[in-house]
Amino acid sequence: MHNDIKEILFTEDQIRNRCIELAKQIDEDYKGQDLILVGLLKGSVPFMVELAKHLQSDVKFDFMSVSSYDGVQSKTLVVRQDLKEDIRGKNVLIVEDILDTGKTLYNVKEMLEKRNARSVKIVTMLDKEEGRVFDMKADYSLFKIPNAFVVGFGLDFNERYRQLPYVGILKEECYKK
Ligand code: IMP
Repeated sequence: MHNDIKEILFTEDQIRNRCIELAKQIDEDYKGQDLILVGLLKGSVPFMVELAKHLQSDVKFDFMSVSSYDGVQSKTLVVRQDLKEDIRGKNVLIVEDILDTGKTLYNVKEMLEKRNARSVKIVTMLDKEEGRVFDMKADYSLFKIPNAFVVGFGLDFNERYRQLPYVGILKEECYKK
């Protein structure tokens, strides 16, 4: 499995250190307020856990599983598993593994805003800015990355590599077979 990685971009230590910094910033921004972390399954889980470890704020965890249809500009979102929490009047922070075209987060943010949350913001572990098609910006991001296919720390290819303790670029021969 490690042999399939062309280059390690971020080690476990680098990820943890940036999570510590980001958690401080989030604590300041939401001082004295409740916060619901909404993780998008499944890729966001390791990042969400690492980030939350360093938060002082009182947070709740909730999860959604969504997928968007494949049309390039399509906005159709299929919700496979919805939130358990009622988010009306609450601060929501959507936690995503990677922001690429922006389609997933564009749709999820719009949907949660319609439920009259007090605020809906986005934190992403990785931001692939070059991939953007939808007008979507993360409020917080751990790292910006080049336009490469990456795996690890929750990110998969065909459900593999999620457990790698780092983020790395997958060798082309592993996904272009
Ligand atoms: P978007 O909707 O195009 O922004 O894509 C977000 C989703 O695409 C992520 O949640 C991932 O599931 C997937 N994705 C995009 N780029 C990568 C990558 O480099 N590695 C693994 N998954 C990716």
